[in-house]
Amino acid sequence: LRDKYIGLIAAAGDEATLEDLRVQAVGKKGEISLMMRELGKMSPEERQTAGPALNALKDEINSALSAKKAALEDTALDERLRGEWLDVTLPGRTRRMGTIHPISQVTEEVTAIFADMGFAVAEGPQIDTDWYNFDALNIPGHHPARAEMDTFYMNRAEGDNRPPHVLRTHTSPVQIRSMEKTGAPIRIIAPGRVYRADYDQTHTPMFHQVEGLAIDRDISMANLKWVLEEFVKAYFEVDDVELRFRASHFPFTEPSAEVDIRCSWEGGTLKVGEGDDWLEILGSGMVHPKVLQNAGVNPDEWQGFAFGMGIDRIAMLKYGIPDLRAFFDSDLRWLRHYGFTS
Ligand code: PHE
Repeated sequence: LRDKYIGLIAAAGDEATLEDLRVQAVGKKGEISLMMRELGKMSPEERQTAGPALNALKDEINSALSAKKAALEDTALDERLRGEWLDVTLPGRTRRMGTIHPISQVTEEVTAIFADMGFAVAEGPQIDTDWYNFDALNIPGHHPARAEMDTFYMNRAEGDNRPPHVLRTHTSPVQIRSMEKTGAPIRIIAPGRVYRADYDQTHTPMFHQVEGLAIDRDISMANLKWVLEEFVKAYFEVDDVELRFRASHFPFTEPSAEVDIRCSWEGGTLKVGEGDDWLEILGSGMVHPKVLQNAGVNPDEWQGFAFGMGIDRIAMLKYGIPDLRAFFDSDLRWLRHYGFTS
């Protein structure tokens, strides 16, 4: 009997089999329990030897059962641990993080630099009337500047008698809207999207400008020069810059100037502040009295400067991006390469 149970217990492969064996051997109606019940029918002499023998057998089987049970539990645990094994030295699964588009990055940089000089941010609609985009800025219907700007006009259904709308060709209409809203004095920049029907390596039909406007009682071109110098130094992170003001013409400024910065292109990389090249970065001038008037600001009392700068252009320069069109292709590989992680 002993050998039978010890053998069966040793061979049991799982806890259920083991439990069956326990019931069979030492359960209430198990083989050994039944034999123990027989003890009462025995003579005292027989009982003296059989009693302790049966008890010893019961103990032996019980401890074999619990030893086997512990062994089975160990194996089960081992198996589970092997299955759930985790290599903490493995490199983590990388998550693709989004990046900040260079245009957004540069817009933020520009905004921060002008904010330090007291310029607030203003906004205007990208679809605007031809009054705000042209007439109010002293560009009448027949003016050649309208044709030069390759304007996108919005279709109008027959009988629609709202004023003609255009995709704004520059951020200058925000000058008018801001002055209408707050009057003078005013100091704002207006970054945003603008549209012109043009497409090549340095032109896309949608691009970005930042407008600057400062109107007060005695603001002059000298203030414009200082503000632009401070901007260029901060933006290109150089101690010294040289700006060149070239006489130019815009209907909404008088006098007008295009501004170049001294630079060099050494091995294809731009160095600002040194060298023999000049790089045009913006158009500017003193706001035309008619423009002030159109925006409800008295030109006998107020004067100031305005400028308009290409954001895409200065982004290309600072970060060495050769083709403007890549900004707007949404190629993830390009975005990952040129994008900024915060
Ligand atoms: N709006 C002009 C352009 O798009 C730039 C400009 C802005 C010039 C303000 C003078 C003053 O070319």
